[in-house]
This record gives sequence, C-alpha cells and structure tokens, in this order.
Amino acid sequence: MTVTRQTVSRLDYTPPAFLVDRVDLTFELDEHNTLVTSRLVIKRNPAASAVADAPLVLDGEALVLESVKLDGRVLGPHEYELNDRQLCIGGIADEVILEIATRTDPARNTSLMGLYVSNGNFFTQCEAEGFRKITYYLDRPDVMAKFTTTLIADKAKYPVLLSNGNRVGEGQLDKNRHWVKWVDPFRKPAYLFALVAGKLVSLTDKHVTGSGRTVSLEIYVEPGNLDKCPHAMASIHKSMQWDEARFGLEYDLDTYMIVAVSDFNMGAMENKGLNIFNTKYVLAKPETATDADFDGIESVVAHEYFHNWTGNRVTCRDWFQLSLKEGLTVYRDQEFSSDVGSRAVQRIQNVRALREHQFAEDAGPQAHPVRPDAYQEINNFYTWTVYEKGAEVVRMYATLLGREGFRKGMDLYFKRHDGQAVTCDDFRAAMADANGADLEQFALWYSQAGTPLLDVAGAYDATARTYTLSVRQSCPATPGQADKQPFHIPLAVALLGSDGTPLPLSLAGGHDTDAATSRVLQLRQAEEHFVFTGLNERPVPSLLRDFSAPVRLRYPYTDEELTFLMANDDDAFARWEAANSYAMRLLRDGYASGQRGEAVHVPPGYLAAAGRLLEDETLDPALVALMLELPSEQYLFEALDDVDPALLSKVRIEVLQTLARELRGPLLATYQRLNDGAPYRFDAAAVARRSLKNVCLAILGERQGPVVSELLINQYRRADNMTDRLAALKALANSEHPEEYLADFAQTWQDDALVMDKWFSIQATSRRAGVLSRVQALMGHPAFSIRNPNKVRALIGAFCQQNLQHFHALDGYGYAFAADRVIELDRLNPQIAARLAACFNRWPKLEPVRRALMKGELERIAASAGLSSDTHEIVSKALQQ
Ligand code: TRP
Ligand code: ZN
Repeated sequence: MTVTRQTVSRLDYTPPAFLVDRVDLTFELDEHNTLVTSRLVIKRNPAASAVADAPLVLDGEALVLESVKLDGRVLGPHEYELNDRQLCIGGIADEVILEIATRTDPARNTSLMGLYVSNGNFFTQCEAEGFRKITYYLDRPDVMAKFTTTLIADKAKYPVLLSNGNRVGEGQLDKNRHWVKWVDPFRKPAYLFALVAGKLVSLTDKHVTGSGRTVSLEIYVEPGNLDKCPHAMASIHKSMQWDEARFGLEYDLDTYMIVAVSDFNMGAMENKGLNIFNTKYVLAKPETATDADFDGIESVVAHEYFHNWTGNRVTCRDWFQLSLKEGLTVYRDQEFSSDVGSRAVQRIQNVRALREHQFAEDAGPQAHPVRPDAYQEINNFYTWTVYEKGAEVVRMYATLLGREGFRKGMDLYFKRHDGQAVTCDDFRAAMADANGADLEQFALWYSQAGTPLLDVAGAYDATARTYTLSVRQSCPATPGQADKQPFHIPLAVALLGSDGTPLPLSLAGGHDTDAATSRVLQLRQAEEHFVFTGLNERPVPSLLRDFSAPVRLRYPYTDEELTFLMANDDDAFARWEAANSYAMRLLRDGYASGQRGEAVHVPPGYLAAAGRLLEDETLDPALVALMLELPSEQYLFEALDDVDPALLSKVRIEVLQTLARELRGPLLATYQRLNDGAPYRFDAAAVARRSLKNVCLAILGERQGPVVSELLINQYRRADNMTDRLAALKALANSEHPEEYLADFAQTWQDDALVMDKWFSIQATSRRAGVLSRVQALMGHPAFSIRNPNKVRALIGAFCQQNLQHFHALDGYGYAFAADRVIELDRLNPQIAARLAACFNRWPKLEPVRRALMKGELERIAASAGLSSDTHEIVSKALQQ
C-alpha cells in the first residue's frame, strides 16, 4: 500500500463548507480496543455559500467505524461513503447532529500520532493531523468548536484521567471503572485536543495572576520522578509572570497542566490547558541533567505556555500559516530566556543554531519560505525555517518598530483576532496598522525562501571626513524560485574609532540630530549607499549588530580588524561574530592546506587573541567560552564544496590540538581558577563559570598527557553534577581506554532513561575506530528501543548527524546503516523516519565518491515498497537536486 499523497497548495485554500459548534466526546479506554463516541453539532458555513449543497466530508484514518447517526437516526451503509481517509455524507440540512462511534487500537499505534500507549498509560498527539486517527472530524485548524470530554477507564490501572479545560464531574461505574468529565470553555481546533490516562503522580502549586485570579499548576509524571519536577514548576511561574509583565497576557483557565511522556515525537505540545511534554523537557535534577538541559526545560516550558495566546486563543487558518504561531512563539520564548538569563549568551546561541541548521535547510533540497506554498506531508514542515527563521522575521518587526511599537502591534493583533484562525498577513497588518508603518515589501520574508547575502564595502574619504558603506543584497535561487526581489532588511551598524569606542553617527542628508552611536539602516533595494559624515579617522565598521536580520554578510575584514572587534565591540553578538569569523577563516585555510597535503597552521594573531580572552578575568566567562568554541563540523561543512568530511574533521581536530599545545598554560590556569570545588548551584554565574571551565577542558582533552588525563578522571569521579561529569566523559570517550568510564556510567544510570540517552550519544559521536559496530551493538542494549524517538535520536540520529568522520566512512557502511534504519523506522513511525532521512539531503556537496554512495542509498530508500508520504517527500526532493 503506497500512501503517497497529493500535494496540497496554499493558494487552493477555501473556507470549510461546514463548521462544528460543539463536540461531545466519550472515550471508553482500552489498550487494544478503545471506543470513541463523538456527538457533533454541525452547521453549514455561511461564509462558504458557493458550495450550498456540498456533502459533509470528514477526515478519518486507521479507524473502525461502528455506527453513524444523523439527527438521531442510524444511517445504513448506503447512506454514506467511506474510504481509508474520509467519511462522506450527502444531503445534509443546514444544521445537524451527527453521532459517530469508532474503535481504535492504541497499543499498536507506533506512530505516536492520535491516541497511543506509552509505558502502559494513554496519551494523545493531534497536531497537525492526528485527531483524524481518533474520530471522524473536520480536522483543519479553521474549524473551531467547544469540546467536552468524558473519559471512562479502569480505576486501578488509570487513576488519573485528564483532558482540556476544567474538570466538571467524576464518578464510579461498574467493573471497577470510573469516569471524569472535562469541559473546555474556549473554542479550539481539533489539533489542540488532548487526553491523558494512567498511573501518574503530580507536583502541584499555585499562581496568582496580576488581576488576582488563582491558577492551579499541576505537573504529572510517572511515579519516582517527582524529585525532578521543581525546575519545570519554577519555569512555569517565571513564564506566567513574564507574559503578564511584557505582553499583558494572563492565563485563562483555572488549571494549567503539564504531563511528561517518554515516547514523544517532538519536544512538547501546547494542547489547551493540558500541555504534553517529552520527559526530556520536564525532568531534571543536578545529578541527572546538564546546564543545557535545565535551559532547554525553561525555554520549552515557556514556549508551550506562551502558545496559550499565540497559537490557541489566536490560531492558524491553515497549516501554511504555521509560522504565525511557531515563529512568534519562538520569538517570545527567546525574549523570555533573554530577560530571565543572559541576553548576549541567548542571542549568540540562537544565531549559532540558526546558521548551523536553518541556513543549511535554506540551501538544500527542502528549502521553503517561512510560509510554505505547498506540501505533501505537513509533518515535514515543522522545520528550522518555520520555527527559527520565523522567529527572526518576528524579531525584525521589533527591530524596525521598536519595543513599544512591537507591543502596540501585538495588542492590536489580539484585539482584532482573539478567538479566530488567521494568517501571517493578518499579523503583518496588525504590526503595520498599529504603527502606521509600510510593511508591504516586508511580506517577501514570508514568500521567498533562501538566505539573503549582503556584500558590504566601506570607503573612507579623509578630505570630506566621510565614510560610505555600500551594501549589495542578493538571494540565491531555491527550488521553484529562480529569481528573488530585494528584501526589506534592518541592518544595525556602528563605527568604531581607533580607541575602540563607537563614534557618533550622522547620515548625510539625514535630519537626525541625536548623534546615536548605533543605528538600524533600512535596506530596500538591491544596492544602497550610506554616507556617514564628520569622521576624523577611518573607522572599523561593526555590522549586523545583534544579528539584526537572518542574512549572510560579507565584508573584507583583515585579521587585525577581527581581533580589534573581538576586543572592543560593545555589541556582544558582533564581538562573538568577529571571533567566529576569524576561526572560520583559519579552519578554511587549514582545510585548503590539508587538501594540498600540508600541515595546518594557526596564525599567531589568533592564538594571541584567544590567549587574551582567557587571561582577562573581567570578561563574562560564558561569552569567553562561546568565543573560544570553534565553529562546528556541520557549519564548516556548509561553507565548503566537494567536501571530504574526513579531512574536515581531521583539520578541525588539528586546530584544537594546536590550541591545546600553544595555549596550554592559560587553559590550565583558567580551568583551575574556575574549578573552585564549590557545591553545584544552578544560577547564571555558576553556569557561566562551568561553561568556560568545560570548554577549556574540552580543548585540553585533545592532547591527553598525564596531567590532562588526571584532570579528566578527577572531574569524572568527583563531579556532583551531570554537566561536569558528562564534559569529562565526552573527552574520555575519545581516549584510548574509555571502557572503564563508560561502564561505570551505565552501571550508575541504567534505570534513568534520559541519562542513558546521553550515554548512547557519547558513544555514537565518539571518534574512536569501530564506532559503527558499537552503534549497531548498542541497538541491542536493554535500554535501547527503536520505537522510542528519544532513543533513536540519541543513538542513530547522533551518529548520522553529528559524527561526520564515521557516518561518512569511505566504505559507505555509515550511509547503508542510515538507509536501513530509515526503512525500518518508516514502518513504525514515519515522522521519525522522515527526520532521519534528511541526513542524506546534502549529498551534492560531497566529493564524488561519497556523493555517489549517498545517492545510491537514497535511491534504495525511494525504491522500497510502501514508503510513507513523510519519507517519500523528503527522499524524492533530495533526489531531485
Ligand atoms: N506545536 C508543537 C510546538 O511547537 C510542536 C509539535 C507539532 C509537535 N507537531 C507535533 C509535538 C507532534 C509533538 C508531536 O510546541
Ligand atoms: Zn510551538
């Protein structure tokens, strides 16, 4: 059975022929045979008058239909049409009541979409199109209804029964069963429906909103995990306070629930009042979770909570508008993290991730606009572009309109659209109208794919005392979009004088009198010139400050100018960027030397600048850590052509080894200074110190003599927290005899699934010989399961996406292994299979031998029988390059 789907096109949107006013659902929960009865109050949509007698077409998948009743009368099989995707009923009055009974087998549902079982408990996942696996319905986001849900289940096995909204009743039934009824007072699309049933325990707390309402906060986890919930609970409090203070948005129900589940396709889901989370984004204590895990939890909790307004109260008209809620909510969670933590660190980390993943996506076969025009499978569009580039697009409104202007736009957006399903254009209109701004050209950020490139040149005229910045913008062709129009781009700039201070900026012809030292230039044309006046010396330009737009920028800095910016720029992002550019330059040069068979050379200027960073104790250790970290292999890969990944890896290691040798003294001194033996604390200062300490350790770990080995072993043994222990284990895993430490780690943490994920990843990303056989052997480990997405990501995903050297082994076994896993997973969980298949996207960038090998594996996947539409879409686009 091939389930290849038709392409869905954005411009084909039509309003639904019917609307649903009310949904009353009853679930009789049983692992293998759950009965779902749905009573729908359905009305013809007055706004869709063109189709006055259209039949009612309901979506449904993998359901067994028991009965259909129309206005109380059971329909015979000739009174409707049924296929494996739809239930179609003709001759319907303007308002009807439809009652549908269906059965499903949740225990056999390995797709983790719809209703499924995880560790004996029931969960649902309905976004984007999972509700149709629960019952026949108008499963599209512009159909918003009021839901009530009654859950019936065995009381001993499923003591906790949860759904959206408020709990309004409960009681006992025969056969040891009980029931609970939930009412959600807010209209919502079906993708926000959720239920949970099982043996769970909860941590509870209260939040009093600014207007004085009390909200009960409840986090549900499997027994034994309550000690890992306080950080998530603290994150809820912070998120609620922040959204009230920054956007004036309060929570709107009496209860806010989070439930953690270990089998989950993504990070978390914002179902109304009942968010369901991957355990990875809930459970944490210092012994088991790293600082990065703690940060991840804080931001995902915030993200899902913020969706209550940006996503739920105002939702998407259709799935092409996904970034309306996701880009905006990512922007909001990034701003939250910046306000409660370090803004500079947050920005640099976000930009680093955007460039590594989204820029690559935008340059590859799946490049698509923030608002895509077509899809075969919507699950494939939960992408870096829709989320992270979408967040950058929202950030640009704030950059162009200012913080207050942005807030005005948000207020107008909610005023106009609360309770509606709307489009990205509606959001843009609210921003424009609230500020009287012209955002017509800005619309191109939603419709054009590809990463714009800014070529910048600077010219100083000593006689006229002017400095002219010339900016040319272009955007590469992407699939289906050969020619691009110029974007409206905010470009933040400053000019630094020779003493390192930013100079007052006045633009020729400008009427500004305040001599600001930083300003946002607005680019609208393919080429523009900005003349700054009154400058007594040739300045060094600081460009794209705070990464003011999601673009690439080229400016011919000298090495000296880069070290000058590293030391002086008052914009933390630009300062980090100077270090990053310098490191990129030396890695590319190193790669070129490697290709000529020459040794890799690290320029003394770079070593000196890095040494000064280590020695300056007045600097924020977190920023120093970020500046010292070399660009990743993946990022470097994107910057090269005809890539030999083995050489790339080797060159990067040689650079690290050179740093370890040449900066040994300062690295050791910094390590010792920060390794103060103080007991673990999770606060910004302590996290910053650990980050620099462990960056030093990682670099030193590239040359493991007796002194460094002892440091590693001591840190591994003595650490009172997972951040330090894992940092040591990572370096030890590349040493000659890691077995003792890996065994000790597994022994200690064998019962903690999330910690075992780290153990799998460390081995999958190790550089030692024989990693692939190790990965294959680990697939048989009792803690591994191919059905669990976290395990697949930790072991298989880590090997295919983060182990350049071994995944790209010249014998092609790495590729064959990945293809086998894609085919195996496709039968179980198409979403996860499709994500893994994307590891083949960049085959045209490889040198010819590997290019052919990888393409061969893609062809093998494409030819395998019964491929899902998810994997089919990814693989066929990858082959079309
Ligand atoms: N809307 C969710 C978020 O961004 C993500 C999501 C979409 C999801 N589809 C999913 C999560 C499927 C789990 C499974 O927060
Ligand atoms: Zn989201």
